[in-house]
Amino acid sequence: MNNEKYEDAKQKVIALRNELDKYNYYYHVMDQPLVDDQYYDRLFNELKEIETAYPELVDPNSPTQRVGAEPLTSFNTVEHYVPMLGLDNAFNEKELEEFNLRVLKLSGQESVEYFCELKVDGLAVSLKYDSGILVQGATRGDGYMGEDITANLKTIRQVPLKLDQAVTIEVRGEVYIDKKNFARLNKEREEDGQPLFANPRNAAAGSLRQLDPRLAAKRPLKLFLYGLGDHRLKLTRQSDLLDYLQEVQFPVNPERRICSSFEDVIDYCRHWNDKKGELEYEIDGVVVKVNKLDLQKKLGTTARSPRWAIAYKYPPEEKITKIIDIKVNVGRTGAITPVAVLEPVQLSGSKVQRASLHNEDLLKEKDIMIGDIVIIHKAGEIIPEIISVIKEQRTGKEKSFIMPHECPSCGSDTVRLTGEAARRCLNPYCPAQLVEKVVHFASRRAMDIEGLGPAMAEMLYNNQLVCSVSDLYYLEAKQLVELPRVAEKSAVNLVEAIEKSKSNPLRKLLFGLGIRFVGEKAARLLAEHFGTLNNLVDASVEELLQVKEIGPKIAEAVVQYFALPETAAVLEKLEKAGVNIEEQIGGRTGGLLDGKVFVFSGGLDSFTRDEASSLVEDRGGRVSSSVSKKTDYLVAGTDPGSKLDKAKSLGIEIISEAEFKNLLH
Ligand code: IVH
Repeated sequence: MNNEKYEDAKQKVIALRNELDKYNYYYHVMDQPLVDDQYYDRLFNELKEIETAYPELVDPNSPTQRVGAEPLTSFNTVEHYVPMLGLDNAFNEKELEEFNLRVLKLSGQESVEYFCELKVDGLAVSLKYDSGILVQGATRGDGYMGEDITANLKTIRQVPLKLDQAVTIEVRGEVYIDKKNFARLNKEREEDGQPLFANPRNAAAGSLRQLDPRLAAKRPLKLFLYGLGDHRLKLTRQSDLLDYLQEVQFPVNPERRICSSFEDVIDYCRHWNDKKGELEYEIDGVVVKVNKLDLQKKLGTTARSPRWAIAYKYPPEEKITKIIDIKVNVGRTGAITPVAVLEPVQLSGSKVQRASLHNEDLLKEKDIMIGDIVIIHKAGEIIPEIISVIKEQRTGKEKSFIMPHECPSCGSDTVRLTGEAARRCLNPYCPAQLVEKVVHFASRRAMDIEGLGPAMAEMLYNNQLVCSVSDLYYLEAKQLVELPRVAEKSAVNLVEAIEKSKSNPLRKLLFGLGIRFVGEKAARLLAEHFGTLNNLVDASVEELLQVKEIGPKIAEAVVQYFALPETAAVLEKLEKAGVNIEEQIGGRTGGLLDGKVFVFSGGLDSFTRDEASSLVEDRGGRVSSSVSKKTDYLVAGTDPGSKLDKAKSLGIEIISEAEFKNLLH
């Protein structure tokens, strides 16, 4: 009898794991969810319950075991039986041509087929599978010995824990953080007063070196595979190898290309130099590989790198400009950030006139003064940053800058709390903080109140109309028209936008409240778990810790936030005004674009990409970064690039921006 029950549980566990693995693959690798989050969570919890009841059924490669329980004290060393080599570099087309000539000479051929891949800027890793089961993940180390980071690699959802085929194989690739998540991570770190990552590569490396896999799990790491280590496969070309990896459900970069001539290689390199800004991740070049594997073998390797491949490196985009002034900003958490005002320059596709200097330690470290001539770049291709000062160009007239010890907004003393890099104003009634809180509340990802930007928020505060976010819901158009330069039409529009925001789901409200450490994702998890604001307000730290992916830092911050008397007052006013404080259970259905998958290519005139994406998502649709058979519409903007060609070849419906707008209504 008991045995029978155990057998049933075992079968159920196998079925659940397979199903969850499949959903995970479609969500994280294909970017095409098959089911909604709630359904996934339900199956996940079911599996967890059975595993708790039958501990002997727990398997390290169960989807429930992605995030290891205990931090490690150190990483073990692992040996790479097939060394993880580096690549030689070519820094210009001439050097690339020299590589081609060497290959031609050594191969004795007149022309060679190449395979081009993007060189994503991250960290090389190796993953070993034994009969289809992930058994080890490692860093490259010195190429011969690396560190065993299996626990951290398992937290990356794109890493399959189990393959469909029972192959024994070692695969290699690059772990990275995309541009958007890099910017978000650094913004959070700045707010928390933690040191910033200089680039996405450092962020990825730092994340993989966390001894506590629970911390690694919080980092938005991704992966592209590009090669093999130890293996017994019979393949003939590099291009087949990547197709094979894709087939066995590894994430493989779709922007790869077979180049039948060297001219095609140059064309690919130039194309991506122009278009690299459109990618979601940072690349620092192109990897050019001889495509035929038997020729690779014939060419062989030196001690450090293969003769059959080269990294063609793009020059880093840098500009020289002058620091005209240094100002400080007070953020919504009171963090005081020095900002350099620059002589405007064009850099990586936009005009840059400000660069955050982050904190006083960084200012000191880089020895930055007002009037300095500096070299700037964009970290993660997004955030303007000062790389260094050109000291030789100093004239003696430069002025040093000292961080204010009084808050520039309210005059309170600023302090540096232990362990923090940020200097903070701790006055909860500081005007700058209050204004920033309103700006955040109204922002698109939060309550999405159109027409309520920094200037309006400041004016509302200065005229004593809005001191906290709840005051917004008591504004009347007739009060607004009395403000300088506010026309009747915009006053009415703003009141309407505020009214509309009342029906937002709880997740948006929670994110908008600006509770420390509660980003968009935590807000969604909390809203889904507790369903109503009142349930959340009453929750204890222990109850909060029951929520999947909510750790002690967030749990404590939430409890502290709701214990503040000023919070209670704000919430009461919000509720009284009729602001929705519930999360719709069951997700959005019946949206105009339910289940439709959009891909955007090229520039749009009326929206930013972010805006267009949320318009789609608000209507139940989804936006994917790459074209596949599952794509419903490709929206072709100006200069649409390679995605358009792919969509055409797959017969996907291609629509203009105007047609896209029509679909929204
Ligand atoms: S192939 C023997 N392909 O670039 C071949 N490397 O110094 C070795 N990288 O350590 C690497 N994208 O971290 C290869 N598509 C790609 C790559 C790539 C990024 C990194 C990798 C390697 C470094 C080369």
